[in-house]
Amino acid sequence: MRYVLVIGAGGGIGKGTIGVLLKHGFSPLAADVVLPELMSVPMFEVDVCSPESIDSLFSKIEGQGIELTGVVNLSGIIRDRTLLKMEKEQWDKVIDVNLTGSFNVVKRAAIHMKRNTENTDSEVTGGSMVFVGSTAALNGNFGQVNYAASKAGIQGLVRSAARELGRYGIRVNCVIPGFIDTKMTQSIPEERVEALKRTIPLRRAGSPEEVGNLIEFLISDRSSYITGASILVDGGMRM
Ligand SMILES: NC(=O)c1ccc[n+]([C@@H]2O[C@H](COP(=O)([O-])OP(=O)(O)OC[C@H]3O[C@@H](n4cnc5c(N)ncnc54)[C@H](O)[C@@H]3O)[C@@H](O)[C@H]2O)c1
Repeated sequence: MRYVLVIGAGGGIGKGTIGVLLKHGFSPLAADVVLPELMSVPMFEVDVCSPESIDSLFSKIEGQGIELTGVVNLSGIIRDRTLLKMEKEQWDKVIDVNLTGSFNVVKRAAIHMKRNTENTDSEVTGGSMVFVGSTAALNGNFGQVNYAASKAGIQGLVRSAARELGRYGIRVNCVIPGFIDTKMTQSIPEERVEALKRTIPLRRAGSPEEVGNLIEFLISDRSSYITGASILVDGGMRM
């Protein structure tokens, strides 16, 4: 069995990714702060902001004798406000979930994967982790200083973790979605959506499965020589 833990699994990209992983023969485990409605895979409650919650999730998984080949962190939030109106609380919350949450996940996942690699009885060597950035970090985005900063931070975290963990056969990569059709983007007014689509060479929003396809590739051995990379899945928006 090739087990992959997907955190933030209840969101649009999470569900799409779980579907793609299942199609490719992986065994996904779903985790989220709000338990997703009944899914066909094992589900766990977790809050990425809490190192204790992350540790308890991994301990539960390890207690079931599961060795993960992949960990995907899709958890993320927005609290949009223009810079001059943004309260520190909105800044802190987004940094806490998106960036500190990613640190909590990468650290505990690294402990798990390194342990597997060093255990001669283990069936799993190394592993692959995937985190999520955003084109907002590359272009900047109106009303998103907090979100853009958190996503830029994730890219730095991923590159540094990749440098440290490569020696254990652990790969760490970042996917950078552009405009994807999920709950997170459904609150954008229709006219802004239409204007946004005109800036995308493929002239449409991406689907969660199209992001899932890239994530599945990065988890699989087909990407065995890719680490520390940030890969766009944005219909050409950022070119
Ligand atoms: N949709 C897009 O266009 C887009 C573009 C670029 C990047 N992204 C990123 O992709 C990821 C997934 O986005 P989505 O569109 O599926 O969003 P979504 O809002 O549908 O899903 C996000 C999930 O994260 C979970 N979550 C929030 N706080 C959490 C916490 N403290 N602990 C654990 N889980 C938590 C939520 O419950 C939710 O299920 C996010 O990180 C988002 O920033 C999305």
